[in-house]
Amino acid sequence: MLNVTGSRLRCPACTGPLKIHSGTLAAAVYEITSGTLRCENCQATYPILAGVAILVEDIAGYLIEHAKGIARLVPDSSIPPDFLDDYLQAKSELTTEHIEEDLEAERVIALYFMNHYLSTSHAPSWFKPSSGTTGSPLIESLIREHWDSGPHAKIVEWVMEFSDRKPIQSTIELGCGVAGLSKMLRPRTSYYLGVDSSFASIALGRHLALGAPYDRAVRIPGDLLDGPVSMKIELPITPALDGSADLIVGNLDNLPVIREQFDLALALNAIDMLDEPEGLPQLQHDLLKKGGMAIQSCPYIWHESVAAHLREILPKDIKDSAKAVEWLYAQSGFQIEKKSNHVPWLFFKHLRQLEIYSVHLLAGLKLN
Ligand SMILES: C[S@@+](CC[C@H](N)C(=O)[O-])C[C@H]1O[C@@H](n2cnc3c(N)ncnc32)[C@H](O)[C@@H]1O
Ligand SMILES: [Zn+2]
Repeated sequence: MLNVTGSRLRCPACTGPLKIHSGTLAAAVYEITSGTLRCENCQATYPILAGVAILVEDIAGYLIEHAKGIARLVPDSSIPPDFLDDYLQAKSELTTEHIEEDLEAERVIALYFMNHYLSTSHAPSWFKPSSGTTGSPLIESLIREHWDSGPHAKIVEWVMEFSDRKPIQSTIELGCGVAGLSKMLRPRTSYYLGVDSSFASIALGRHLALGAPYDRAVRIPGDLLDGPVSMKIELPITPALDGSADLIVGNLDNLPVIREQFDLALALNAIDMLDEPEGLPQLQHDLLKKGGMAIQSCPYIWHESVAAHLREILPKDIKDSAKAVEWLYAQSGFQIEKKSNHVPWLFFKHLRQLEIYSVHLLAGLKLN
């Protein structure tokens, strides 16, 4: 993390201010690749591993649950000694998952990387076989038609309109993943902070969006016969370790960020991962200054227990997910300014598998 990010954060245990402890000291803005953040109030400490600040209450549990992503980038010698034995045990039990929910798996992170950073004009074409065989004409034509005009393009359009009305000083993205939006929105926001619970996403996002060091090649799936991520992809990386953006690990249930400091709060494809979805608009509201804008997008793939919870709290005349989420935002104090009901969102999984989601987006203004 960057030293200047500390002033925007708070202790997830007690909300106290955090102080950075690290060997590095040089310029006014500098990258901290290892060290700790210590709460000046309750003295809790939070590690910084491979440049990623881990600001969650239960560090021991986090290192165990996210061992797969951490192990690819952090040598065992950097793991805080108090947690090392349990971490090594978790690491020895790791398996290669094929499921989309495993947000530390290299293949899953690669899918988000493609989604956030690759356009159809990238050369060579990542959605065509590199060998002499032909690819699927249907998959190729769907990608050419819809890939570049998905939710990110719509959000950039809305943010441009919003920033024409009122300059955006600061933006936060909740569940930012690999944070492709931070690059796209850079001309329109003076500051961007991304928060996600996935270590692998934050580490790769810090490399791609900020130019932070990264010890691995970026690979995407091709023909799965060649392995889960067989195609190496080169991207131009523009260094941005100047304090205008940063990404940290944190949990939306207990966000380690000072409230009421942002003009724009984004959350894409995250609300349906939360046990209590109504907490997301409330959190965005708490983070925004008055007059700030919240943007939310999702295909609403609710777990049945979450849907049952929503049915309990929604008015009986609300019968669909888009209306339900618009109602949640209105209840949290937002005036809905923009909506788009069916934006195609494509997920390229490998040369023979393309997923299409239909995403609902809304933008709401914080009134008070
Ligand atoms: C479906 S992915 C979407 C990623 C990105 N926003 C996008 O649209 O491509 C959901 C993201 O939310 C993150 N996430 C889920 N629950 C979270 C939580 N409780 N706290 C922080 N991040 C969370 C996941 O790690 C994942 O990166
Ligand atoms: Zn504290």
